Amino acid sequence: MTCFASKIREWYQLHGRKLPWRETADPYKIWISEVILQQTQVKQGLNYYQRFICSFPDVRTLAAASERQIMKHWQGLGYYSRARNLHAAAQTIVLKQNGLFPQTYENLLKLRGIGPYTAAAIASIAFGEPKPVVDGNVYRVLSRVFAIALPIDTSEGKKHFEKLAHKLLDVNDPGTHNQALMDLGALICKPTSPRCHECPVSSMCEAAAIGQQAQFPVKSKKISRKKRWLHFLIISEQGYTILQKRTSDDIWKGLYQFPVIETGKKVPILHIQEQVQQIFSDTLKIQKIHHAKHLLTHQELNTLFYKVNWPKNRPLPKTINQTRTVVVNNKEIAEFPLPQILQKNLSILI
Ligand code: ADE
Repeated sequence: MTCFASKIREWYQLHGRKLPWRETADPYKIWISEVILQQTQVKQGLNYYQRFICSFPDVRTLAAASERQIMKHWQGLGYYSRARNLHAAAQTIVLKQNGLFPQTYENLLKLRGIGPYTAAAIASIAFGEPKPVVDGNVYRVLSRVFAIALPIDTSEGKKHFEKLAHKLLDVNDPGTHNQALMDLGALICKPTSPRCHECPVSSMCEAAAIGQQAQFPVKSKKISRKKRWLHFLIISEQGYTILQKRTSDDIWKGLYQFPVIETGKKVPILHIQEQVQQIFSDTLKIQKIHHAKHLLTHQELNTLFYKVNWPKNRPLPKTINQTRTVVVNNKEIAEFPLPQILQKNLSILI
């Protein structure tokens, strides 16, 4: 074992986080935890993990669940394709592999939603396969300890870090090693204000030696956010409101929303008023009741909510813009999986 590996191992045994997916050897539970943690911090993911495992304790329960039920459990976590892929992968395991969870990196990779990172995490943690896990935490730790200025968002950089992580790996206990590195990154080698005085490898850290921790890791690109304007139409009649399921390959696929008009730029309410008149072939008045901005990693969502003045006793339409509507009792809207921005504002909207 390298000196680096033995130091982080010793530190982890004393200071590592006690997390529920570390108390189990069940690959199903480790899989669920790793998919949640792909794009979510441990602090936020913890509750979701507990609730998910409580409702879907094994792969057969998950495979048999409805998409809506699974999406409801995922509501607020973002990157909803993760939930749909979990469902599809669970069904593959049950129907094609008789419920037996794949046991190797190569076979894990064949499942929907499992890429090299997640396959390495599950294979090392659940099966002891010597695969290094290289996530954001690991990039940060390694780039600082070895003062590597290669950008982590280039293929050259990625390859370099992957190789280094492989060389450092404790092949006798790769799962513990990988999780020790993750915890070191999350608890000590933080993006800002790293706690170097508590770090088990500070004596060998090249960035710390020259006081340049903040310069690592290096990225080549600045992230830019696409701006979108989503105009939601709240169409209600006698205690019922229209929802539509999002089905296209876009954010929130599989969730439900109010009928929406999207524009690529800020537009006056008159523009939305005209669109509404076109859609319903009627001069229905609208009234803006709320707006909010919501930042995703690559998008800036400007959400605007309008109440549509729907005539009393006119039946609600079965389709809007060729898309099926779901007419829902207002009391039951919250039971549907909704984007967090709708869920959060439900009480002021309906
Ligand atoms: N992030 C991804 N996988 C993790 C794990 N097993 N423990 C802590 N953080 C993680």
